[in-house]
Amino acid sequence: MQVRLLALALAFAPGLSLAAPDILVSHATPDGSGVVLERMAPHAMDALSARLHHDTGHCGGLVQHADEADFRQWMAKLKSPTLRQALTRKIDDAANVGAVMARLDPGRLLAMIEQLSTNTPNRHYRSEAGVAASNATAGQWRSIAEGRDDITVSTLPLPNAPQSTVIARIEGSERPGEIIVIGSHLDSTSSLAQNDPRGSAPGADDDASGVATATEILRAMVESGYRPKRSIHFIAHAGEEGGLLGSRQVAADYRRRGANVVGMMQLDMTANQGSADDVYLMTDYTDAGQNDFVADLARTYLPALRIGRDRCGYGCSDHASWFAEGYPASMPFESGMRDANRAIHTPRDTVETFGGHANHAIKFARLATAFAVELAND
Ligand code: BES
Ligand code: ZN
Repeated sequence: MQVRLLALALAFAPGLSLAAPDILVSHATPDGSGVVLERMAPHAMDALSARLHHDTGHCGGLVQHADEADFRQWMAKLKSPTLRQALTRKIDDAANVGAVMARLDPGRLLAMIEQLSTNTPNRHYRSEAGVAASNATAGQWRSIAEGRDDITVSTLPLPNAPQSTVIARIEGSERPGEIIVIGSHLDSTSSLAQNDPRGSAPGADDDASGVATATEILRAMVESGYRPKRSIHFIAHAGEEGGLLGSRQVAADYRRRGANVVGMMQLDMTANQGSADDVYLMTDYTDAGQNDFVADLARTYLPALRIGRDRCGYGCSDHASWFAEGYPASMPFESGMRDANRAIHTPRDTVETFGGHANHAIKFARLATAFAVELAND
């Protein structure tokens, strides 16, 4: 009883700490008008996330900070990301787009979502199962890349947690220093399971769907023998649910090394069709010019696709980290915000919940293929 009371006190009294040191967390205010910074015990983040979700109907964009200076820097970067460069984006490589698209297979895409969500039904970034999810993804990407000496797969552990971000790099044949990033996140969370590593957080839609969509593109590129002129990096970010942990680390690292990312696209939730339109381009924390380019790509290569626009209202996924570092980012989303899959962050985020097929996710595989191939071609 005492222990239970203590746990409750910890969960609901930000600032109170006994064991683990407190962390600083920023999140959107429930009315969406601003951002607040609070000090709390690490596990109180999960309770706060659940409470915000209950009160507002959406998640709160919880982001951890090392100190107040880090928080201020993050807010400043989100407000005025610098150095974003305008690339002339042409649509003129129908041959390669067609060749890779022809290899995309919804059956394989679905199988990968099933694998991730059932073999690793809790991919929490602080758990051993979350480590297994990194290893499984790295293993799969390595086996796809086998026999290609222009593709390398590496892993980068989070600074304060065991899960690793997984990166597959296809080296560009002509302009290897210019990079296209296709992102997703390999961790999952469940507020109901209280992130008990034995609890269930299958995250089939959020975001096994994005990892599987990216994997299917990589596989189709390899199978078709496609060789990009610019480099293409597939990045399955760790710890997204912990506050964009992996992407903030990796995007800052790319920036520090002066990496020239010419375009970034985040695939986070691609499987559940909740609205009338097929793909919603999120307009906040993304690049307007690049979003228009993505819409043009859809008109050219996928004329039946209906493109909508919406906004998250906060930095809702890893694209925000790349945007904050000044890179042009896009986030094509599976539905309008109000119609987003309500089973995410619960044990019910399964393949069955989104209908047991990859008919929706495959649209995102096609669109992201056109994005990567056209940007990689000059
Ligand atoms: N996939 C979600 C983001 C999302 C959910 C977008 C619903 C649109 C509709 C993502 O994994 C997530 O849960 N993000 C967190 C924010 C992050 C900074 C921890 C969220 O939305 O609270
Ligand atoms: Zn999520």
